[in-house]
Amino acid sequence: MAKPPPEEFDVRFRGIWGSQLWLRTFEEAYRGEFPREAAPLSDCTWRTLGDMVAELRLNPGSILVDIGCGQGGPGCWMARALNCELIGIDHSKVAVEQAAETAKSFNIAERSTFRLGFLDATGLPSESAHGVIMVDSMPFAESRTAVLGEVSRILAPGGRAVITVTEVLDWNPEKPKGVADWTPLVRAAGLTLTKKIEQSGVFDRTERLFTLWREQRDALAIEIGPEAAELTYQDAEMVSPWVNKRRHVMLVCEKLARFDVATDR
Ligand SMILES: C[S@@+](CC[C@H](N)C(=O)[O-])C[C@H]1O[C@@H](n2cnc3c(N)ncnc32)[C@H](O)[C@@H]1O
Repeated sequence: MAKPPPEEFDVRFRGIWGSQLWLRTFEEAYRGEFPREAAPLSDCTWRTLGDMVAELRLNPGSILVDIGCGQGGPGCWMARALNCELIGIDHSKVAVEQAAETAKSFNIAERSTFRLGFLDATGLPSESAHGVIMVDSMPFAESRTAVLGEVSRILAPGGRAVITVTEVLDWNPEKPKGVADWTPLVRAAGLTLTKKIEQSGVFDRTERLFTLWREQRDALAIEIGPEAAELTYQDAEMVSPWVNKRRHVMLVCEKLARFDVATDR
């Protein structure tokens, strides 16, 4: 299926920016699990932020790259918590501009930059990142292999990446769609899959969220604009049928340090 162009994300981001009603739907659906300050456009919960902190293991001053950063909330939250430098990459011009505003509200503007770029072509130098996060941006990859290759290229040896993805539970080789197991893909990109962390409760949260969006349809159209509201309903209709047919996991990937690679042989 064709992936949404950046202009479509521009419409979404322009619409939801600063909308209290939009945030309230997430708060209600997520029942205390929604990190409001980060205002993610994803299934990023307090637990997700905590898992990312635990797995990235970044030192103060290190460089964290958020690929598909959107409005920047999860990356800014991490960079503030870990006292590191943040580089956010997104193909949406509106997202990149809004993410810079988000960084100001997190008081990390002087150690953050947000740039236009692609999931598989970030424009960053090789081995320049100590940590990478991708929160619900992998589904938009034209080529998963190319995106994992880009993550591997920009990670410095010893660096880690956390990537939220889904695995198809009832994978049918006759009609291959989605990924049954990310392990071989990660390995082929030259990364080690340290662990997969199950993200529980996604189905219940998203079902509650989609129900609220349907109930609030008219009010949302006024608040975020008819175009953004229409895209929101389209998302809900598209995601609803498969969300409970997949396992939602966080991949924790590591680029082995050269010393480790050598001793592995
Ligand atoms: C579901 S949103 C997640 C945003 C953010 N990570 C968060 O958690 O709030 C997916 C993001 O991926 C970005 N994106 C989608 N396709 C992309 C591509 N080919 N290159 C760069 N960014 C892309 C979108 O613009 C959007 O910001």
